[in-house]
Amino acid sequence: MKEVSRVCVVGGGTMGNGIAHVFAQKGYAVTLVEAKKELADKALATIAKNMDRQVAKGSLSAADKDAALGRLKSAASVAEAAGFDFAVEAVPEKLAIKTAVFAELAKHGAPGAILATNTSSLPITDIAASVPNPERVIGMHFMNPVPVMKLVELIRGKKTSDEVTAATRALTEKLGKVPAVANDFPGFVSNRVLMPMINEAILCVQEGVSTKEDIDVIMKLGMAHPMGPIQLADYIGLDVCLAIMEVLDKGFGGEKYRPAKLLREMVAAGKLGVKSGAGFYEYPKK
Ligand code: 3HC
Repeated sequence: MKEVSRVCVVGGGTMGNGIAHVFAQKGYAVTLVEAKKELADKALATIAKNMDRQVAKGSLSAADKDAALGRLKSAASVAEAAGFDFAVEAVPEKLAIKTAVFAELAKHGAPGAILATNTSSLPITDIAASVPNPERVIGMHFMNPVPVMKLVELIRGKKTSDEVTAATRALTEKLGKVPAVANDFPGFVSNRVLMPMINEAILCVQEGVSTKEDIDVIMKLGMAHPMGPIQLADYIGLDVCLAIMEVLDKGFGGEKYRPAKLLREMVAAGKLGVKSGAGFYEYPKK
């Protein structure tokens, strides 16, 4: 497979900017595509701020930060990134939005370019069905915060080739991350295991088993998790948690995967977690 040098990241939200950040830091020329140029520029500004954090902590030199930022370009269409060797899509979790992006990616990549999706739960096989070469499509599920978390879950769609899986695995390692491979089942491995735990913690709040604070202390200190499940749900976004539970519920059925009523109520009330300023906890603007 051709050596990857030019990367296209579509989507400049938390995941997209984190993914572009890591590729640029590791030496790749990255074009970050958003619906509007201002949004792509805003994502680049967030990357610069997150890199400043690394410089302040001493894990990135100021010169390396400047070099990484110099490798990043903003764009308002995939066509402006034409000729990329590798693409990662990180747009909202709606199949129609993703397939529209993949149709563009299939048109503008270099011959043989790999098209990856950062979807957290949509079937890779369904996304791949929208392009002429589904064997080139793979799931590349980064964890939030992307610059910090070591894992990248690679998901093979029904048609993903061995060659594409091997090349994506090698690329993940070049990013300083650890790849782990799953097959294309609802929620893959990470969210099939994580989300029912979060949902169960929310049921514990709903039923009055304990307070959210004590549930978080129990899981954080008792199981050595970096965050308790309620705090983590706020961090991921309660709308994202609900959407993933719905994929599991639809895919497997049964009580085990039914989203908690309280989770639905929180999302309906616009309490989405850190990003909306309030979820189970409050996040006053700094
Ligand atoms: N960019 C760059 N660096 C960042 C960063 C970012 N966006 N966010 C945090 N950091 C760095 C900090 O600078 C700090 O660096 P240091 O280790 O060199 O000092 C380090 O990360 C730790 O950050 P903080 O000191 O601010 O805070 P904490 O020690 O509390 O760690 C945390 C924060 C890394 C978020 C930690 O609480 C954690 O690991 N939480 C669990 C995260 C998790 O489970 N993620 C997976 C979610 S599931 C998912 O993503 C899948 C999806 O499909 C739902």
